[in-house]
Amino acid sequence: MILEGGVYNLLSSTQGPRTKLATARLPVHGGNVWDATSEFSIRTGKLIDFSSNISPVGPPRKVLRTIKDNLWKLGYYPQVDSFNLRSLIAKKHKGLTSENVIVGNGSCELIYLFADVFAQKGTTALIPEPTFSEYESAVRRTGGKVRGVMPKDNFNLDVKAIMDLASDCNIVMICNPNNPTGTLIERRELLKIIDHAKDRDSWVLIDEAFMDFIGNQKDYSLAREVRRHNNLFVLRSLTKFYSLAGLRIGYGLGSSRIIEALHSAKVPWNVNCLAQVAAEAALKDPKHAARVREHLLKERSFMMRRLKTIPRLRVHDSKTNFILINTRETGLTGKQISERSLKRGMMIRDCSSFRGLDKFYIRISMKTRRQNMILLDFLRSL
Ligand SMILES: Cc1ncc(COP(=O)(O)O)c(C=O)c1O
Repeated sequence: MILEGGVYNLLSSTQGPRTKLATARLPVHGGNVWDATSEFSIRTGKLIDFSSNISPVGPPRKVLRTIKDNLWKLGYYPQVDSFNLRSLIAKKHKGLTSENVIVGNGSCELIYLFADVFAQKGTTALIPEPTFSEYESAVRRTGGKVRGVMPKDNFNLDVKAIMDLASDCNIVMICNPNNPTGTLIERRELLKIIDHAKDRDSWVLIDEAFMDFIGNQKDYSLAREVRRHNNLFVLRSLTKFYSLAGLRIGYGLGSSRIIEALHSAKVPWNVNCLAQVAAEAALKDPKHAARVREHLLKERSFMMRRLKTIPRLRVHDSKTNFILINTRETGLTGKQISERSLKRGMMIRDCSSFRGLDKFYIRISMKTRRQNMILLDFLRSL
């Protein structure tokens, strides 16, 4: 693979048969610490990563112990379809069975799998803007088209516009809470979209990668609704909330019809044996989950209060573990701020790659109090 200015060519023209090979833009994400600095700086905490939305509390101790205790399994193939973990996840979401659950090598794998199965040339996916870019990439890769929907004021989802436009679309993909805006929409609003889509034989993907950070999930999560709505696929991730981004683990919930279709299209052994047991241990640790939520509540309200005192930043309200900030009045673009922050040992997400945002946005995630104070000092100095 040749890396060239953000574009990768799968093969150079001198290699292999003379077939025209596809080239694709590399997607832009936060958290690319490995390209930013040395392993030493990362390990010793010299680099603080505010650009990816990973909990600073770290993985539960039990998870680390479980990984150690299960290293002996490395010489064996993992359960091919993660059956034990699927059964545990089904129990957690009460009323579901393992037939309603698929496990992925991170939830991102499942976004692509869903698009591979349900999108194709001639189909259109409706995607509110701005949001996580992988929905669009996954749909376009299948030859499907993408239609955007602009938000209402303060980046709130425009449910009416979505319902109007959904009539001509085969898939609707919504992130709740939404990355990068931090907005959250109530389940009864989403149910209107799902019912409307069902009448038109369309599929709905709701990405709840950040739902665990929300305290009163029952007003927002659609996890249990997959029993009643056979056009609904709900995604969850364990990589952010349990700080397991490097391990890669996420899951999807749907009717047995959807899950069977996804299982028949996925590669076998997609989730390694350490990720399977680590996820089981994490999901059995409600105390850790409460600690992460408590930490977030404290740090988010602290950061909100302090950020709002910095004159030229326009801070958007957030219901989750990251905050979107408009930097226009500073005269500095997200890119300039992110470059300056790197020189000070911090990574901040420049949001100019998000469709629907201009170049004057940054996104920061909540870290420890000490790290958050360092970030505040930097932002004050702009
Ligand atoms: C909204 C959203 N969904 C899914 C993912 C993918 O997460 P993972 O594959 O680590 O579960 C991300 C990662 O940033 C995200 O922001």
